Amino acid sequence: MVERYKNKVIIVGCGPGLKAYISPKALYNVKKADILVGSRRLLKLFPGVDAEKIILEKNYNVLVNRIADWSSARQVVVLVSGDPCFFSYSRLIIKKLGRESCSIIPGISSIQLAFAAIGESWDDACFISLHGRDSEYAQLVKKAGVFAKVGILTDHKNTPAFIARQLLAGGIQDRRMFVCENLSLPEERILETDLASAVNIKTNGSIVVIIKKD
Ligand SMILES: C[S@@+](CC[C@H](N)C(=O)[O-])C[C@H]1O[C@@H](n2cnc3c(N)ncnc32)[C@H](O)[C@@H]1O
Repeated sequence: MVERYKNKVIIVGCGPGLKAYISPKALYNVKKADILVGSRRLLKLFPGVDAEKIILEKNYNVLVNRIADWSSARQVVVLVSGDPCFFSYSRLIIKKLGRESCSIIPGISSIQLAFAAIGESWDDACFISLHGRDSEYAQLVKKAGVFAKVGILTDHKNTPAFIARQLLAGGIQDRRMFVCENLSLPEERILETDLASAVNIKTNGSIVVIIKKD
């Protein structure tokens, strides 16, 4: 009988994009991969790793089953951006495989970098992801009404301008908006504005928005 390996799937947090933010522990674990799964952008961070590379795009539901199959015989390492425990693919993988079958290597979240960029603590903030989610605006308005700081993950549809419009329509005013664009990357840009001015703001790339009470 062929003995089946029992490798834990390793989920590695790769930070916000700049390689210098990837921890030595993460690098060490990535080198263990027989199969390396990640977005094109994250896979490019590890050109020298001798593993079969699998591109993660909109195939995440199908891929999670394949990850489960592969992991019985080979070491699968999954790359995620930022921290695996903050709005990432790791949730789906752990739901499928169980937490005892996964090992998580933390990374620096885009949220951490955003708060560092504006010089604010995040221990008193609350968070919401609008990345690929369209039905969270009632929640956002509620949170912005209660918390002094709200950190928001965005996407190409839920832009800072769209978020500003939704907040104003929900009766939220007197807030500063910080737009933290392409953090750690050469095209990084940090903008501070108010909600009324933000409705016309043009942005591009990966963005964290922070809403702060005046
Ligand atoms: C699927 S979520 C992943 C979040 C990730 N787990 C984390 O901890 O940062 C992707 C979202 O994270 C934010 N993000 C990731 N990298 C970023 C960066 N370099 N600059 C600004 N925002 C970033 C954007 O809001 C992006 O749409």
